[in-house]
Amino acid sequence: MAALDIHHDPLPTTMPPPDGGRSLRERLEELVDSGYLDLPILPTVAAEVVALTSNEECDIRKLAEIVRRDQAMAGHMLRMANSATNRAVVHVASLTQAMSRLGMQMVRQFAFVISCQNRVFRVHGREEQLKKLFGHSLATALYAQEIARARRSNVEESFLAGLLHDVGRPVLLQALTDFTTTTPFSEDDVEESVGALHAYVGGELARQWGLSDRLGEAIAHHHNPAAAPANREGALTVRLADDLAHRLDPDAPQVDILMHPALGPLNLYPEDVERLLGLAEKIAAQVEELG
Ligand SMILES: [Fe+2]
Ligand SMILES: [Fe+2]
Repeated sequence: MAALDIHHDPLPTTMPPPDGGRSLRERLEELVDSGYLDLPILPTVAAEVVALTSNEECDIRKLAEIVRRDQAMAGHMLRMANSATNRAVVHVASLTQAMSRLGMQMVRQFAFVISCQNRVFRVHGREEQLKKLFGHSLATALYAQEIARARRSNVEESFLAGLLHDVGRPVLLQALTDFTTTTPFSEDDVEESVGALHAYVGGELARQWGLSDRLGEAIAHHHNPAAAPANREGALTVRLADDLAHRLDPDAPQVDILMHPALGPLNLYPEDVERLLGLAEKIAAQVEELG
């Protein structure tokens, strides 16, 4: 682009696609289809926490032993247990105490949140963009959890589906760092390709991490819930949570929540919607705390 400007040539109406006539999207699709896309592994601590807490007999001391191995995570858990959101009356100093206060479900959720934040939502040169995406993902998780609560459906599964719904984005952006060094692509190209492929890639990642098929499906179909074969409700929950989370960001595309197409199929009543809309401040504060 800079070379064209030097000669003051008018920009051609259609730029020749780089790499032998193939567009960025075609190249990314090819990479995804080939199975050679580098999918990050589920961070060890998160994997161990999940394995241990899916066991009913899970012991909080054993869990603390695992978390203690990851200093950053242990520190985060302590901070969370003492945070304003968790309404701490008495300050807790030990990790075991912190974990009992948070409860098994929250410990498991935080293990995911913290590992994803540190290991997955990181792409060199795109720090700000990824920080914003992580905040959006967390807000979507918190809204999805509340939608599930209102519907008396699986709260934890909904939280994770919300947290991971856009996880395909950092994976694809990371893959792009190998492409863009030799061929410059416009940010519009990047957005178009990543936008089109991230849901599918996120679903694949969930499968690779051994999360449930239902979760993978909710992620893979969050932009087109009608196409979800077995877990349409999960995909609709994420769709609605995603749009609610966008309300926290004035730059994001806004959808009229009162007319949202997911409300009917999810059996949400006007009072449920009002409650969800009323959570904006609380959720924004939680995102701030964890982000
Ligand atoms: Fe998305
Ligand atoms: Fe999203």
